[in-house]
Amino acid sequence: MIHPSFFDEPLNRRETRCIKWDVACRENADCVPMWVADMDFRSPDCVVNALKARAAHPTYGYTGVKSDDRTAMIDYYRRRHGMIMEEKQILMLPGVITGMRVCLHALTEKGDGVILQPPVYGPFRESIEKTGRKVMKAPLHWENGHYTMDLEAVRAALEAGARMMFLCNPHNPVGRAWHQEEIEALHALLSSYGAYLVSDEIHADFVYAPRTHYSALRLPDEKIVVLLAASKTFNLAGLQQASLVCRDAGMMAGFEEEMAAHGTIAGNVFALEATREAYLHGDEWLDALKAYLAENIRVAQAFIARNMPHAILSPMEATYLGWLDLRAVEEKTETWMHACEKHGVMFTSGTFFGEEGEGFLRLNLACPREQMLEGLRRLQAAYEELSGEA
Ligand SMILES: Cc1ncc(COP(=O)(O)O)c(C=O)c1O
Repeated sequence: MIHPSFFDEPLNRRETRCIKWDVACRENADCVPMWVADMDFRSPDCVVNALKARAAHPTYGYTGVKSDDRTAMIDYYRRRHGMIMEEKQILMLPGVITGMRVCLHALTEKGDGVILQPPVYGPFRESIEKTGRKVMKAPLHWENGHYTMDLEAVRAALEAGARMMFLCNPHNPVGRAWHQEEIEALHALLSSYGAYLVSDEIHADFVYAPRTHYSALRLPDEKIVVLLAASKTFNLAGLQQASLVCRDAGMMAGFEEEMAAHGTIAGNVFALEATREAYLHGDEWLDALKAYLAENIRVAQAFIARNMPHAILSPMEATYLGWLDLRAVEEKTETWMHACEKHGVMFTSGTFFGEEGEGFLRLNLACPREQMLEGLRRLQAAYEELSGEA
């Protein structure tokens, strides 16, 4: 049994090349960083021990993916999410965003349109633009903090020639875990125009009861691409390991060719070791983590409702990232970022997710509860300053 106090323990991440703390604390050593999406928790002991054991062998030469790296992953996603895949349908990659670029190169041409649903994780847009493809926006529909898909906007993009769509499920930053009916309706629309669905499911493990993750892989369509990783779930992002899953053999051959053309390989000796171990033995730790995060979310919701009455925190079906609408007090995210910096807390700017995020901040709640509350108290100080309410 993993006791909640495991996650309460403060963790000093300074001087570990940790982006989250180093950037936030460059100007202000006392800053509470609640921005980039990794967690201020220790990874599970099974992972730490596996890495130590591998590090103890004093050679770190060229490394290959083994069959049991794939079978551990297959069992994990079947066990936890009812997703069915075979070994030959898995391609290992250094990152999910690398996987998106592989899809863009293999399945589209320069100038082709790719649909996004902003506000959405910024590197989606960047990978489309940097590969010479065209972003076609179908912004999510906002109503009092709750977001839904705008299928008419998706249809308009398809009418205008879009060839592919990047779905974020669960959605970073708005916290939706898309429901089966929503995924099915979206897929029916895309397939009626022959457009590819590429589904980023890196946050799949952070869907909270009563909701469950509904993967695009459950749709009866071989041409769907799903991107997965253990990196968010088990705090392994620095190791750089992800997977692309697709049931279509022809598409898989195209992805492999694309990887070879760019010299992209996944064979990091530590990443493979840690990922397999997490998939095999991480369940108990993950269940305890999710319970802790669910309580952090509840505490944050109550804190914001009590102390920042004009702010709207979107309901969080999934992820550990709160999406806070502060437009009623001040419409410019930049002003919020400055005020927060002054009060010693750092969030991700809403505009990182597109212009639809103007006036919003994204709050990373995956840290010890006391630390989260300290960050929220500092946000409250910024809120009181900008709203003139104390
Ligand atoms: C939705 C989403 N996709 C992808 C990534 C990054 O994945 P990777 O580091 O594997 O490229 C993140 C990281 O925050 C994310 O939130």
